[in-house]
Amino acid sequence: MTHTFPENFLWGASISAHQTEGAYQSDGKGLSVQDTRQRDNHEIADFTVAVDHYHHYKEDIRLLAEMGIKVFRFSIAWTRIFPNGRGEINQKGLQHYNSVIDELLKYDIQPYITLNHFDLPQALEDEGGWGVRSTVDAFKHYAETVFEAYGDRAKHWLTINEPNIMLLVDKKILGKEIPLQEKYQQFHHLMIAEKYAFKRCHELIEGGQIGPVPNISLVYPATSKPLDNQAALYFNSVRNWAYLDFSCFGRYNTVFKDYLKRNNITIDFAPEDSELMENNFPDFIAMNFYTTVTVEKPTEKDGMANGISDQQSEDIMEWGFYKGFTNPYLKKNEFNWTIDPDGLKTTLQTLYDRYHLPIIITENGLGAKDELTTEGNIHDTYRINYLQQHIDQCLQAIEAGVDLIGYSPWSAIDLVSVHEGISKRYGFIYVDRTEHDEKELARYRKDSFYWYQKLIETNQLPS
Ligand code: BG6
Repeated sequence: MTHTFPENFLWGASISAHQTEGAYQSDGKGLSVQDTRQRDNHEIADFTVAVDHYHHYKEDIRLLAEMGIKVFRFSIAWTRIFPNGRGEINQKGLQHYNSVIDELLKYDIQPYITLNHFDLPQALEDEGGWGVRSTVDAFKHYAETVFEAYGDRAKHWLTINEPNIMLLVDKKILGKEIPLQEKYQQFHHLMIAEKYAFKRCHELIEGGQIGPVPNISLVYPATSKPLDNQAALYFNSVRNWAYLDFSCFGRYNTVFKDYLKRNNITIDFAPEDSELMENNFPDFIAMNFYTTVTVEKPTEKDGMANGISDQQSEDIMEWGFYKGFTNPYLKKNEFNWTIDPDGLKTTLQTLYDRYHLPIIITENGLGAKDELTTEGNIHDTYRINYLQQHIDQCLQAIEAGVDLIGYSPWSAIDLVSVHEGISKRYGFIYVDRTEHDEKELARYRKDSFYWYQKLIETNQLPS
């Protein structure tokens, strides 16, 4: 078997605004729900400084160019453009991303821009957040504004990062639990907002391409018992297909509809929604993948627990539907996330078979506690092994016929984890700070940086 990737394969690296930028109130930026969220009794770093990518972006992009990436996935902080979510444009915020895009193009790096990555403006949250329709209108206007401002140079866009994980893991990502009825009204609004983004990107940007960016992990049944298989069917729909069927087919998934019905959830549709859903589609799918999930059918003695979070997996529980199960065949990383490279190939094949759209992986990576040596090195062999195993499965998926066009792992530089601080690092570039001491925020190349550089240069996976 050859280890060579297709010519023009899009090697990239990814970040989000709130986890890297810091400068949370600089140059007119407003507060987002991530800036206001309580962080585990202040035991871990918050996002106020993060890794100060806002001020270090030139240095960071220069290092990424040295690593050889062709694609940089980043998100725009909505609150830099509209500090209160809507209203007057903050010109300094708008200018910042002009500079970022120009800097990337200087090195021939294509921007892949996420419109929103978990950081809804707090002012909109105060009015009801994604639970109210006016947030969809504000999002539409924000998306139009950035398409018009940057679309002459930025041709590739991602909509809303992982709406599925944001709703499933609401407590950890948003700092609050959302009741089921409201959760799925939010689902509808998020997905309609995305449809507007598809529509307006195609109308406003010549040659513009846009895709959804869910976190997709196949759900395995714990055993071959028919009811475990049914549990996996439901969780696959609630976790994965409900979102992508809406994006790519323009309809509510039938298993998901049954789930909504059995939970007495009703969704408010606006008059324009059906037309929007059925006529606006993505050009590609951006997929985030970390692991697979395994479930079994709960029994009555499991009681009525009703948490459906799954990052990562054993705390999933919805009585009558599914319950998380520890997969005995998979190892875990030091943060208790299961590792399943083979599952990546199966997930890619399933996704491609279902939607027939080009796929770019926009997140995949290993969170680990790296150590900076006194000589300024970081020997992250464990990360290289993780990436090697997953990239190998990407190659196998391509050979099996999947139109996988790129791989942009998490993360380009170290960043503040969604709920585990800066000690859990993902980057190719180490940023020297601790949870509470920002130090000089100096950047260091990890061993994985050189490994990835070589991979990109040769377009071949070392055996
Ligand atoms: C993804 C998010 O779900 O998981 C990222 O899009 C996040 O923002 C990543 O950082 C890893 O999760 P965590 O909790 O380790 O930061």
